[in-house]
Amino acid sequence: MPQSLLILTGHSQGLGRAILDYFLSQELFQIIAVSRTRIDLESPRLTQVSLDLSELSVLENQLPGIFPDGDFDQIILINNAGWIGQVKPIGQLGPKEMREQVNLNLLAPMYLTNTFLSRYTKSDIKKIVCNISSGAANRPVEGWGGYCSTKAALAMFTLVAAKENKSPNSYFYSVAPGIIDTEMQADIRKSTDADFPELNKFIDFKEQGKLVSPEDVARKLAYLILHPEEFTEVIQDVRNFDLP
Ligand SMILES: NC(=O)c1ccc[n+]([C@@H]2O[C@H](COP(=O)([O-])OP(=O)(O)OC[C@H]3O[C@@H](n4cnc5c(N)ncnc54)[C@H](OP(=O)(O)O)[C@@H]3O)[C@@H](O)[C@H]2O)c1
Repeated sequence: MPQSLLILTGHSQGLGRAILDYFLSQELFQIIAVSRTRIDLESPRLTQVSLDLSELSVLENQLPGIFPDGDFDQIILINNAGWIGQVKPIGQLGPKEMREQVNLNLLAPMYLTNTFLSRYTKSDIKKIVCNISSGAANRPVEGWGGYCSTKAALAMFTLVAAKENKSPNSYFYSVAPGIIDTEMQADIRKSTDADFPELNKFIDFKEQGKLVSPEDVARKLAYLILHPEEFTEVIQDVRNFDLP
């Protein structure tokens, strides 16, 4: 029986881990999961690739192994791995950190989307690319120069890919997942007022229980991915729809 294939980045914690757990609960999915950390979980349907996605030359060499052959009825790529980067005003950013952030948040998903499209050309396979975006793609946030810019650029790349691929079996999404209770938010709260003027607002989100759980977001993302005919726009925000 044909199977579905999911290629997921950033599966070792946070939202990616919740997405992994959701799709592992779906019997028909084979999953290739890419992070630097290999998690302690064995399944015949899970292949973990340990890789630093900001090392682009290493990623380039490993691309063939990330996109396997097989008789799949649908193939899904979720570019989820991301980094908030150094939370500092522009003028105080390190070149190495800027390079790592652009590589991870923008170039790695571009490489993966590009290879995905060149690799799986059979028109009858359902293909879905879901790039995890952020509300920060649409508004300038002081201290998040690299984060806002890379997320905005990835959203535009997704829009172009969608415009170029009009086959009824291909779907492209740039999805803002809301504010999620993960390590990324914990890192954001470690910054200073001077570097990040919105710090107190983000501390309040946590203290007032306003962060959503990665599991709730994963369920919404999975609904979107498994019902793409209901979602016609490329730019999506999980806060804009409810589960049936
Ligand atoms: N949390 C939020 O409130 C929020 C809001 C809007 C958007 N987002 C977006 O949602 C996505 C997931 O965020 P999260 O909150 O779950 O973050 P997280 O808890 O920090 O997890 C990030 C994931 O990315 C992986 N990763 C980081 N650097 C990597 C690298 N160099 N190479 C390979 N994998 C790497 C990490 O695995 P390893 O460390 O094992 O490599 C981890 O699995 C990100 O794209 C983020 O921008 C999050």
